[in-house]
Amino acid sequence: MRIVLVGPPGAGKGTQAAFLAKNLSIPHISTGDLFRANISQGTELGKKAKAYMDAGDLVPDEVTIGMAKDRMEQADAVNGFLLDGFPRNVSQAEALDSMLQGADMKLDAVLDLEVPEDEVVKRIAGRRICRNDSAHVFHVSYKAPKTEGVCDACGGELYQRPDDTEDTVRNRLDVYHTQTEPIIDYYKAQGLVVTISALGEVQDVTRRAMGALNKSEG
Ligand code: AP5
Ligand code: MG
Repeated sequence: MRIVLVGPPGAGKGTQAAFLAKNLSIPHISTGDLFRANISQGTELGKKAKAYMDAGDLVPDEVTIGMAKDRMEQADAVNGFLLDGFPRNVSQAEALDSMLQGADMKLDAVLDLEVPEDEVVKRIAGRRICRNDSAHVFHVSYKAPKTEGVCDACGGELYQRPDDTEDTVRNRLDVYHTQTEPIIDYYKAQGLVVTISALGEVQDVTRRAMGALNKSEG
């Protein structure tokens, strides 16, 4: 399956993607995670992306589209992928469509995670991420690690993302409404959008998502 996950910052895209990708046996491709890996490795691409990310603005398309395309062309993605955070504006959605058309492929669904703004703000404010693996995501009250500041999965140090400050989060939400939400209408016109509530326990949201994709949990 080829799925796009869309939803505001802090909706739980990364959290759900980890479970959905496992259930569906497809790789989880997060452009945010790819940028953060490039920043921590000090690559040229990471240097280009950092200032935009720290401000909560979108990294320019000419950097983002090539990076996403390279990742989607890797061997593990030939039979499908779950995109988290890409596309994030209509021109990225058009670039994805033309890339898929060129390879005689198509998207199966766009899963839209709906969460009220006050809840995403709480989720982002308490989020802590592992330095070793950005898939290890915690929350100080919703999913507290056994030892404060230490990853349950690998013992790595937990940190707060630099773009999770109040001002930056406000800008990320604005950017989401003005630049990313229009892709929902773009994909509605293709009949691809399934919207679910992302409120409630993580496992309940996963179950809801699998149901919406017409799959029982594997
Ligand atoms: P990105 O990394 O994609 O960030 P985002 O879209 O702002 O989304 P988040 O990662 O903040 O939230 P999430 O929905 O993954 O939530 P999570 O699962 O962690 O992008 C960052 C930046 O990179 C962008 O601002 C931009 O600069 C750049 N960028 C990336 N892609 C780009 C693109 N295509 N084009 C241009 N620029 C791009 O959950 C949040 C918290 O809530 C966690 O603590 C979690 O434990 C908790 N939680 C999750 N689910 C639940 C639940 N059901 N109940 C209670 N708590 C929950
Ligand atoms: Mg994420």
